[in-house]
Amino acid sequence: MVREIVVYPDKRLKLVSKPVETFDEELHTLLDDMYDTMRAKNGVGLAAIQVGIDQRVLIINIPLEDIPEGEDEQPRENTLEMINPVIIEKDGSTKFQEGCLSVPGIYEEVERAKHVKVEYCDRHGEKHVIEDDDFLAIAMQHEIDHLEGRVFIEKLSFIKRKKFEKEWKKRRKAS
Ligand code: CO
Repeated sequence: MVREIVVYPDKRLKLVSKPVETFDEELHTLLDDMYDTMRAKNGVGLAAIQVGIDQRVLIINIPLEDIPEGEDEQPRENTLEMINPVIIEKDGSTKFQEGCLSVPGIYEEVERAKHVKVEYCDRHGEKHVIEDDDFLAIAMQHEIDHLEGRVFIEKLSFIKRKKFEKEWKKRRKAS
């Protein structure tokens, strides 16, 4: 089921999400709904707080490249579901143009670590470790930021941030 997306500057986006303690049906429904919502909005990742749930839950589904035409580039089974993720290693730095379903239509370059190693639980509570130094590394850092109440535009320089706030106000008035 598609849920409603929480849009900036909604105060809920500032909440620090709480650890998940029970890996039950309710969690599985949340994860399934998050996938439906992410697909409906053409996203590549989503944190639970973006549908108003302050729990340390996120999903990422990076579109497949070079697949036959007409085939699904973000199949459900390719979804990385991360519960209570923790960055246990990070190094290097890289810049990447990011967007966010809670700040629709805005794309800005953000600096992050190039390589991260993340420990997390899957939907059944099993522990895993994953590492990456490509697009997935960026996506994990972006989504984990949401669990800490941070949105990517807060990482912009003072001047860029001012420009963004002005533009955002204008857009919200127009809609
Ligand atoms: Co986001």
